[in-house]
Amino acid sequence: MSASENNTLFTPFKVGPIELKNRTIRSAAFEGMCPGNHPSKELFDYHTAVARGGVGMTTVAYASVSQSGLSFERQLWMREEIVPELKELTDAIHKEGALASIQLGHCGNMSHRSTCKCTPRGASLGINIYSPTFVRKLNKPEIEQIVKDYGNAVRLAKKAGFDAVEIHAGHGYLISQFLSPYTNHRHDEFGGTMEKRMHFMEMVMKEVTAAAGDDIAIFVKTNTRDGFRGGLEVDDCIKVAKRLQELGAQALVLTGGFVSRAPMYVMGGAFPVRAITHYMPMKQWWLKIAIRIFGKMMAPTVKFKENYFLEDSKKFRAALDMPLVYVGGAVSRKGIDEVLDAGFEMVQMGRALIRDTDFVNKLKDGDKSVCSECEHVNFCVGRMYTLSMQCHTKCEDITPALEKVCQRKSGGR
Ligand SMILES: Cc1cc2nc3c(=O)[nH]c(=O)nc-3n(C[C@H](O)[C@H](O)[C@H](O)COP(=O)(O)O)c2cc1C
Repeated sequence: MSASENNTLFTPFKVGPIELKNRTIRSAAFEGMCPGNHPSKELFDYHTAVARGGVGMTTVAYASVSQSGLSFERQLWMREEIVPELKELTDAIHKEGALASIQLGHCGNMSHRSTCKCTPRGASLGINIYSPTFVRKLNKPEIEQIVKDYGNAVRLAKKAGFDAVEIHAGHGYLISQFLSPYTNHRHDEFGGTMEKRMHFMEMVMKEVTAAAGDDIAIFVKTNTRDGFRGGLEVDDCIKVAKRLQELGAQALVLTGGFVSRAPMYVMGGAFPVRAITHYMPMKQWWLKIAIRIFGKMMAPTVKFKENYFLEDSKKFRAALDMPLVYVGGAVSRKGIDEVLDAGFEMVQMGRALIRDTDFVNKLKDGDKSVCSECEHVNFCVGRMYTLSMQCHTKCEDITPALEKVCQRKSGGR
């Protein structure tokens, strides 16, 4: 290790009842490896490889707390029958020396009729242009049921041996749809003022903390801003973060963006039009054409820059005294040290660990520890819509035309 390197990265850190062996976490990045909503061998192999690669904890992405919250066919859905399979996964992760977390959420207005087997429901009436379907406003009994589903999902996660849950309260999924004035037009106890828009999140957190008890750590992934005019800004999001701390969140993962409105704000780089349409089945020919024509317009490129959320995240660091996890463009030892030097306790990585599951072990390796090969063209995102998330360098089915697109750098944000 050179003299300029921060000494914190490979030291342990406690969050609630757990202790990570170092400060790195594989972020929840949807794997698309759960056909029939069951964990597969591919999911097992990927997460055990990440665990072997040296992370403190790996996060299984985007498990829906109920069938009504599903948007992908290859997405996990928390239910009793998958607990033994999940237990095999957590056992294997533990054997490789890492902890295991699972992200729990509900897609709300982003759910797909074909997978959730109902009319998608959100905070308010609307249209899911990605599906595309009409969206119905949730009524009170449905809200209460979903809240219970969160608690049930936490209990199942505990039973399956997870060390932590990560509640998804960002990116325009259900909790975030209630928080944001862009998607919440209600006039009842769940809408109107910021306080009322936080009510659903408060109910969820009450249920989650009761279900978690002292046995499993509670992380919450929350926005620093929604990333477009009319969405939540930094000051609103700081209020949400402070409330989350009061409600029992033990660490916050700071992110940004809104999948239905500002998708590339989440991760930076290009919207992978070519990859998405390449893998889409022919029966969706009309959607293929629409995405080819309008894709870049609906989801303009947000130029990628290392640590792109750091400036906004520092405002949360100044306002909060709880453990914070940085996520967004962490791709080098130097960049990660910058994050830790700024007072963040942990750092999550998505694409660096999709590109190279051994990246954390390589971070010990001084100057060589830069995951420079990832071009942030987001091929992995494009592929996950239909098949599993993969880096283009690992795909055997890639065409020369797609390969060419993947060689283009997205530039600086
Ligand atoms: C293929 C892919 C899938 C993703 N899926 C999710 C997800 O299911 N849940 C989530 O909170 N974030 C998701 N993200 C966002 C990442 O967790 C992370 O916040 C973002 O990519 C920035 O981190 P990075 O620059 O280290 O990749 C996804 C990102 C990628 C690349």
